[in-house]
Amino acid sequence: MANPAFWNGKRVLVTGHTGFKGSWLSLWLLNMGAKVTGLALEPPTDPSLFALAGLERRMDSRIGDIRDPAAVDAAVRAAEPEILIHMAAQPLVRLSYDEPVETFATNVMGTVHVLEAARRCPSLRACVVVTTDKCYENREWPWPYRETEPMGGYDPYSASKGCAELVTSAWRRSFFGKPEAAAIASARAGNVIGGGDWALDRLVPDCMRALMAGRAIPVRNPHAIRPWQHVLEPLGGYLLLAERLWGNPADHADAWNFGPSDDDARPVSWIVSHVVGRWGDGAAWELIGGDHPHEATYLRVDSSKARMQLGWEPRLGLADCLDWTVDWFRRYHAGENVERVTLDQIERYEQMDGKKP
Ligand SMILES: NC(=O)c1ccc[n+]([C@@H]2O[C@H](COP(=O)([O-])OP(=O)(O)OC[C@H]3O[C@@H](n4cnc5c(N)ncnc54)[C@H](O)[C@@H]3O)[C@@H](O)[C@H]2O)c1
Repeated sequence: MANPAFWNGKRVLVTGHTGFKGSWLSLWLLNMGAKVTGLALEPPTDPSLFALAGLERRMDSRIGDIRDPAAVDAAVRAAEPEILIHMAAQPLVRLSYDEPVETFATNVMGTVHVLEAARRCPSLRACVVVTTDKCYENREWPWPYRETEPMGGYDPYSASKGCAELVTSAWRRSFFGKPEAAAIASARAGNVIGGGDWALDRLVPDCMRALMAGRAIPVRNPHAIRPWQHVLEPLGGYLLLAERLWGNPADHADAWNFGPSDDDARPVSWIVSHVVGRWGDGAAWELIGGDHPHEATYLRVDSSKARMQLGWEPRLGLADCLDWTVDWFRRYHAGENVERVTLDQIERYEQMDGKKP
């Protein structure tokens, strides 16, 4: 679990802070007393957790494009970060089919620009580059992927994240080898869910939009099985990894999987039925037909390394993740203060101390 005493007073640069994961991470860091700077485009959705939680007022928020090396350089120079967590990306598989060039420009060259600026930043000691479990060459086999397995990717998004991994590894070996250099690691997590995600074409946001509007939930691939985890699980992993990079860089500057436990890989139909049950009020779901682009059907990562060497472990079972998410949206829908709702869940998570509820 992240150690608040470690983060208190640390200068942290978060790229992608206006997005779903970035907003949760920024709130968590601020709550622990970190001095947080963010670099990202405007929030990718409206509404957004970033706007609703008032993050613009609480942190040094810089709107800029990581495809522009000068914008990245300026943000890094202004923030003088001790720790950098790079999450800015075009993160949607389906959009990557429509906008492959933009996806590669942001996810690959954007990562190059961030690592180049990091290389010139003397204050920096630890950097976590966030990619995804989809960075692996998916062989559609039943075994979970380990960190040593080859990068790949069928669709442009997955391939761009595989490339971002290769970039990170090349920069680490070529430029960050000296003892005085910052320690660089990459983190590969699965599909996340949680309050405040309004992204298009993602199952749980689709569910919440439909439920709040009183409509049936549209479902495309009811039998697709994916690893699901609450947003706080990988974020907790990124924080723990950054702490270890700081304390013992030689043993941690590497790639790390942060996946859910095997019991939490469930078909979409199970997820939707659970959400419908938790929401109540006569909620329902319906199957949507049509031609859908190729999406990998099964992909699990093996997180033994994070468990054994970082002491990281998922804390929330899938049913709890869904319940926390539905509860978040219910409280938002009822007009509660979004920052408070989000911090309640962060604090509850912190208090769990490795025990599933
Ligand atoms: N959400 C998931 O299920 C999931 C799973 C695995 C990995 N990830 C990874 O986690 C990270 C965050 O994902 P998210 O779900 O919060 O996505 P999001 O779309 O909610 O946020 C993306 C962030 O990146 C910023 N961004 C996009 N293009 C940019 C550019 N050219 N320049 C500067 N900023 C730019 C956006 O403004 C936003 O702040 C991404 O790297 C994503 O690939 C997400």
